[in-house]
Amino acid sequence: MTHIRILVGSVYGGALMTAKAIKQALDTEGYSVSVLENPVLDDITSDAAPLLVCTSTTGQGEVPSNLLPFYIALREQLPQQAGRPFGVIVLGDSSYGDTFCGAGELMEEALHETSARKVGKTLRIDALETLEPENEALPWAREWITAALT
Ligand SMILES: Cc1cc2nc3c(=O)[nH]c(=O)nc-3n(C[C@H](O)[C@H](O)[C@H](O)COP(=O)(O)O)c2cc1C
Repeated sequence: MTHIRILVGSVYGGALMTAKAIKQALDTEGYSVSVLENPVLDDITSDAAPLLVCTSTTGQGEVPSNLLPFYIALREQLPQQAGRPFGVIVLGDSSYGDTFCGAGELMEEALHETSARKVGKTLRIDALETLEPENEALPWAREWITAALT
C-alpha cells in the first residue's frame, strides 16, 4: 500500500480541512495517507514515500507557525531526499499581492534543496475566488499521486 504524508500548515483550519478531505478520498481509493499537523523531520526520514505539502500563507508570505519548525529544521539540516516525489498545495489570498501563496514557494525551495523531485505544478488556491478549497484540491491530488508514482 502506498503511503503518502501530508505536511500541513494552517492558521484558521482551511488547509487542515483540505488535507483531511484529501486523506478521506485517497484512503478510500487504497492509499494510506497520514496528515501531519505538527510535522518534525523524523516523520519524513524513515522512508521515501511521497510528500504532499498542504499549507496556507500567513504574515507576509510566511509559513504558518505549526509548520515553521519543520521548515526551519529542513533548511538547517537539509536531509537528502534524492528523487523523492513531492507536491505543493498552497492556500493564499491574491489581495496580498507579491506575497500571494508565498509559503508554498518557501516549502518548495527548501524541498528542492534536499534534491526531492517536484511532481506536478503547484496548486494555488485563492481565498478571494474559492470558498471550498477541497473542491480544487481533490482532483488535483488524484492526478498528483498518479504522476508521483510513475
Ligand atoms: C494575518 C494574515 C496574513 C496573511 N498573509 C497572506 C500572505 O502573505 N499571502 C497570501 O497569499 N495569503 C495570506 N493570507 C491569506 C491566507 O493564506 C488565506 O486566507 C488562507 O485560505 C488561510 O488558510 P488557513 O485557514 O489554513 O489558515 C493571510 C491571512 C491572514 C489572516
